This record gives sequence, structure tokens and C-alpha cells, in this order.
Amino acid sequence: QPLVGLVGWRGMVGSVLMDRMQAEGDFNLIEPVFFSTSNTGGKAPAQAKNEATLKDAFDIEALRKCDIVITCQGGDYTSEVFPKLRATGWSGHWIDAASTLRMNSDAIIILDPVNMPVIKNALAKGGRNWIGGNCTVSCMLMGVGALYKAGLVEWMSSMTYQAASGGGAQHMRELLTQFGTLNTQVRSLLDDPKSAILEIDRKILNRQQSMSALETENFGVPLGGSLIPWIDKDLGNGVSKEEWKAGAETNKILGQGEGFGTPATPIDGFCVRVGTMRCHSQALTFKLKKDVPLADIEALIANDNAWVKFVPNTKEATLQHLTPVAVTGTLGIPVGRVRKLAMGPEYVGAYTIGDQLLWGAAEPLRRMLRILLD
Ligand code: HSE
Repeated sequence: QPLVGLVGWRGMVGSVLMDRMQAEGDFNLIEPVFFSTSNTGGKAPAQAKNEATLKDAFDIEALRKCDIVITCQGGDYTSEVFPKLRATGWSGHWIDAASTLRMNSDAIIILDPVNMPVIKNALAKGGRNWIGGNCTVSCMLMGVGALYKAGLVEWMSSMTYQAASGGGAQHMRELLTQFGTLNTQVRSLLDDPKSAILEIDRKILNRQQSMSALETENFGVPLGGSLIPWIDKDLGNGVSKEEWKAGAETNKILGQGEGFGTPATPIDGFCVRVGTMRCHSQALTFKLKKDVPLADIEALIANDNAWVKFVPNTKEATLQHLTPVAVTGTLGIPVGRVRKLAMGPEYVGAYTIGDQLLWGAAEPLRRMLRILLD
């Protein structure tokens, strides 16, 4: 059985990955070696067959012995370890959740229900670096990839509603703590049905505006009862890095644009952090290359893959099936609100949601492992 090194398996994405690997029986097919950045020599988890103790995640010699390394440890780890490991001549497969290597020409962004041909082509050419995509991009393509595969998209604009988990575990805690703080501030007024709502509102705003640096340590400003229309770095040209990824990564996943000799599809929009836990949502506007009947568009989306769930464009179905609360913890990718827009018959709107820890992070990694094991 192939020796598979696991790094960063204890963190949030890593824990979701471990659960999914367990559920799908992946551990029956591999000999896992558990690495740690902080607890070398500690006890490895129960799935370990031969290595009962944790190995040092910075020990290049130990990593070299692995046929495959899967890491959810994050970008700093990748930057430090990956070049050293490759410099030794290691020719194993590197599967990585971090964005560090994503846009390298010798790296493939993995999302096999969408880009299996791109993955297979790279494998045949000796590809060894398999990188998970940005969560928002992956969830979007799982939902509406069919329109791209059918060559229908002239351009797309995405307006995102991204969950706290995209920032990390501490961000989720901070959001919930802020909710609690705000509730505490007005609890007695809420308990009194006759209290004045504008008084409650004023107290909340006062508390939000006086939150300390510690209370907003992770997001920088309050997110509870507010939102933040900027995610990731400032690229200096008015575009956030998260917004840039939408176009750059979508095109790379689809195997088009720079480096592929085909034109890229223009994709742009705004990425916004909202006070949800772990589902990224997005409102999409498409300009199609031609006027396609709505029923055909719906059928294309609904039949694209086993996970997409077409939600009829009614209030009742939307409230039941198209919310982060309905989707969290599932691999389902609902797509709803699909309709022609007022700008013309080629303009189509859609709304989609995905658990950013599952399809947005862990699931493509373990599926790549299975592709390599086939
Ligand atoms: N950049 C994403 C976010 C994380 O902040 O929501 C997942 O790629």
C-alpha cells in the first residue's frame, strides 16, 4: 500500500478531511504516516497502521519516504517545506489545500467533477503537484460548471457572501463571541416587548463601534451585525486578492486562458465576508453567448454532477433549501434563483451555496488521492 504522509490533519480543514477519509474508507487503501509540526513523537491517531508515533513535519528525509503527501498545514508550511522536498529529487505526489503553489505552471488546481480531463492530461504528462482551489471558486464551479463545460459563458460576475470559516477557526469563534457580546448588551431591552427598537439599535451600534482591538483581533472590525466587503490582500489596483482568484483560478481549473492557448472567460465581482459560519454563498450573473431557453439551462445545471441540487425558483423552495443552515455539513451544492434577468435574454442570474470546508477545501484533496490510487 502506498505510504501517504498527512500534515495539518488536526486543524479545521484537516479534521474535516480526516472525517471524510474515514467515512469513504480511504484509510483501507493507504498506509498513513501522520506528521506534526508541534508534537513529534506524540501518539498517532488510530488509523495509523505501522507508525504509532507522529513524525516531524519538517523532517525532509521522513517526508521523502512517502509516495504521496497531503497537507492542510497552510501556506507558510508549504513555502518552507515543498521546495526543500522537491530539491532532494523527491518525485512523489504533493496534494495541498494551501494557495501557495496554485498558480504555478507545474501545479494543477484539482476539482475532478469539473476538470477531470485537465487532471488526467497532467497526470499523463508526469504532473506531481495537485492543489485545492479557492473555496468560493470550487463551490461555484461545482454548482454551475455545466454552463462553462457547454461553452455558454461569455462572462460571469459573482457577488459573494463568505462565511467566517474562510478566515479560520479563530474567526468563527470571534464572530460568535461578538454575537454574544451584542446580545448581552441589549438582553433586558429584548426581554421587554414594549422597549423601543431604536434604543436597542443605538446600544448595539455603540457597542459595535467601541469594540476593542482584542474583540476584533481576527477580522479587524466587527463582523457580528455587520459585513466586510474586502477579503484577503489588497492587490493595490482596487481589486482584492479573493476577487482576483475568481477569474484566475476558474480559468485555470477549466484549462483555458494564459498558458492554455485559449481565451480566458472574464470573471469579476465583489467578495464580501458575512456573519455566517462555514457556507460560502454567491449571487451569479451570466452573460451567455446566446439566448438559451431557461428550461435547458436548468437541465444542464441539474444534471451536471451527483452533488448539485437544483432548487426551483420559488420562495418556499429557496427558504427550505438555499441557505447556509440547510447546506452546512453536506456535500450538496444547491443552485437556485435561476432566472433570466431584465437586461436581455442572454442574461441569467443564479444563486449557489457550498460548505467551504467540504467541497471548498477537504473533498477535492481526498478525491485526488483516490484518483492517484486508481
Ligand atoms: N479565501 C477564502 C476565504 C478561504 O477567506 O473565505 C478559502 O479559500
